[in-house]
Amino acid sequence: MHVSRIGLVAITAGVASAKTCYDMTVQVPVTARNGVFDKISTPQTNIDATAFALHASTQAVNVTADALSGYATVSGLYDISAQYCMPDNVGDNAHVLQILTHGMGFDKSYWDLPYENHNYSYVDHALSRGYHTLAYDRLGLGKSSHGDAKNEIQSFLELEALAQLTRMVREGSISDSCIKQPSKIVHVGHSFGSAQTYGLTAKYPDLSDGIILTGFSMNASFMGMFISGANFQQARFNKRQESDYSAGYFTSGDIGNNMYLYFAPGHFDIDLLAFAEATKQPSTIGELLTVASMAPLNKFAGPVYIINGDKDIPFCGGDCFATGGTSESIPAAAKAVFPSASAFSAYIQPNTGHGINLHHNATGAYQQIHDFLGTHGL
Ligand SMILES: *[C@@H]1O[C@H](CO)[C@@H](O)[C@H](O)[C@H]1NC(C)=O
Ligand SMILES: *[C@@H]1O[C@H](CO)[C@@H](O)[C@H](O)[C@H]1NC(C)=O
Ligand SMILES: *[C@@H]1O[C@H](CO)[C@@H](O)[C@H](O)[C@H]1NC(C)=O
Ligand SMILES: *[C@@H]1O[C@H](CO)[C@@H](O)[C@H](O)[C@H]1NC(C)=O
Repeated sequence: MHVSRIGLVAITAGVASAKTCYDMTVQVPVTARNGVFDKISTPQTNIDATAFALHASTQAVNVTADALSGYATVSGLYDISAQYCMPDNVGDNAHVLQILTHGMGFDKSYWDLPYENHNYSYVDHALSRGYHTLAYDRLGLGKSSHGDAKNEIQSFLELEALAQLTRMVREGSISDSCIKQPSKIVHVGHSFGSAQTYGLTAKYPDLSDGIILTGFSMNASFMGMFISGANFQQARFNKRQESDYSAGYFTSGDIGNNMYLYFAPGHFDIDLLAFAEATKQPSTIGELLTVASMAPLNKFAGPVYIINGDKDIPFCGGDCFATGGTSESIPAAAKAVFPSASAFSAYIQPNTGHGINLHHNATGAYQQIHDFLGTHGL
């Protein structure tokens, strides 16, 4: 008994470190029909940022409608910063690739947190179960191209970038990238990245073989809590942000705001909160104005899995089970918008807030996700 326990620990450690990753910058041509939000001006100061938050969180107000003056085509050749990982010693075996789209407040490192020797790494867990992963910084953020915060970096443009990146991986047209041709592609998102994954399959159902929506529901009633709780400040005034973010790129105000948005008290390591705060990433006003512009129906025909922390703020208002009896949970109500899905399951991860990957039991969530994929042939 004692010996096999030690053996197991040794194997786990071996698996965790047994990965090969490649960092790359992919040039992606992107065209989208974006909103033109010229009825409001881009907030320049922190006072302006708070004024926008007050507007956006006022009851019965639709800030998107208030700001929208029309639509325009936005087009460009953009840099997407990505990291491709595969297990060590893989041959040319058939494998499933997971394309990982992060949420607001993070970049692609959300999926492979270096904290505590990658103890919280989603990527390590996926690799240990035979998957390959491609995590990327969403267009507009991190090491990917930045742009105009209001009329350019919106969910519409980012969605087309994800679609184009996926096509390029499927066609094998990313030159010199070391990406091995996958037999199937699963898209996994967190929060805003889940909304992107949802939008991708609503618009281009053939681009994905299965989707995992983490930190997500179809209920937009609690967005005001996110906007208010964030206490958004201009990223360009944040001394720790060593980058060229322009006006209208907002980060959460301080560590308390970060905790409110992403963490469930008592169920995380306080030093990991400090790490998240030190590495936090911005959101754009354009994203905030378009995050709720999702197709109301999704005809995707593959398997769909939603997993959300029971104490999630932005998509559950702090309690995913408080439905007043209308459905099993708030995320479970999304079943109705996936009439063609080959399988649908919504799972509530206990003792967890919105930032699932930063909680003590993150690996419990990773197991649930991969068990679902395995059960559905992915
Ligand atoms: C808010 O306005 C936008 C733009 O007109 C529209 O697409 C969206 O459906 C509206 N949202 C709600 C909840 O009415
Ligand atoms: C981190 O490692 C410890 C044991 O060293 C383990 O108990 C814990 O569950 C791990 N946390 C995560 C998120 O993997
Ligand atoms: C969102 O969830 C709340 C709380 O369960 C519920 O009252 C409301 O009807 C839901 N809204 C939608 C659009 O499902
Ligand atoms: C950890 O997560 C797993 C999978 O969701 C769950 O079964 C288990 O109860 C969780 N443990 C705790 C202590 O929350």
